[in-house]
Amino acid sequence: GKSGYDHYMLKEIHEQPTALRQCFSGRADALDGTITLEEVGEIPQPDAVQFVACGTSYHAALYGAATLREMGIPAEAYLASEYALSPPPLSLGTLVVGITQSGETADTLAALRDAKSRGVTTLALTNTVNSTAARECDHAVYIRAGPEIGVAATKTFSSQLVGCNLLAEELVEGQLDLRPLIESLRNLPDDVQSILDSSAAEAIVEEYGDSDAYFFIGRGKNVAVALEGALKCKEISYEHAEGFPAGELKHGPLALVTPDTPVFAVVTGDDKRAQKTLGNIKEVQARGAPVIAVTDGESDAAEIADETLEIPETTERAAPVLANVQLQLFSYHLADALGRPIDKPRNLAKSVTVE
Ligand code: M6R
Repeated sequence: GKSGYDHYMLKEIHEQPTALRQCFSGRADALDGTITLEEVGEIPQPDAVQFVACGTSYHAALYGAATLREMGIPAEAYLASEYALSPPPLSLGTLVVGITQSGETADTLAALRDAKSRGVTTLALTNTVNSTAARECDHAVYIRAGPEIGVAATKTFSSQLVGCNLLAEELVEGQLDLRPLIESLRNLPDDVQSILDSSAAEAIVEEYGDSDAYFFIGRGKNVAVALEGALKCKEISYEHAEGFPAGELKHGPLALVTPDTPVFAVVTGDDKRAQKTLGNIKEVQARGAPVIAVTDGESDAAEIADETLEIPETTERAAPVLANVQLQLFSYHLADALGRPIDKPRNLAKSVTVE
């Protein structure tokens, strides 16, 4: 049952500390600074990685590919529905990773089968033990999030991001000191809990819940968070929502920005990307749009923005998980205020088993 929560989605949002603990458990040694995924022990370091996935899992794939590229491995995320029909070139040293919560998504299975038919190693990063993806791939890595009933993916996305980190560190040899990363992944359950205990997302809904549309921007790994924030918003609230890399704003979407379109800016850390996003915040504010910064306070985002959804300080890899939790809560409370059937949005299925 829903254990006292109004919806499975809210229950699953609150299950994230436990889910993240389970995903991480036994897979990292904080003292030695080592990460070990027993399931992939025998895979040599790939020449390149191609991720295939749909929907929320595709957003996790964008994050995973960005992470691997930073580690020096050519990596791309592909929408599974495009992959099999327009197969990208690969070499025998390419690893193809399907990210799929259910392990049953038809498009993702088709893409993985296409890769397999071309002779490369395939791996399923999945939540479902013995699912079709897990059985058909050469390797399966489980994210251990526990069952997810709500159609909207929440805890499984968070666990996919952690799974991507574990996988990347296991696959790529000779990484520098992993202890800060391990420490931040180990702290994620507590950091998520502190957001769940203190989020201002409901107040943001009270203030902005009757807007014309909602925009979500971010750079780097926070592009995945922006896209996921918009997908969650539209699928459960039925409100118009769009996410894009912040730099794309002035190449089109800015035309839609008005005082009635709040912009959520995901700004973590204080690197060049964060600085550039501060510029984007000012651009949309100049068009009258209210800006809600989802930020750890390392940059000036909170000072510049109209409102803030705060996240604890952490590593650059862990911050997207935390920022996304704030956006999950915003979408949930928006959909709830609008009286939507949150756990079963119209026209959608939990597992899409037709191509
Ligand atoms: O089971 P999968 O991860 O393969 O599902 C892929 C998508 O259908 C799924 O992530 C969908 O976008 C989410 N339920 C949206 O919240």
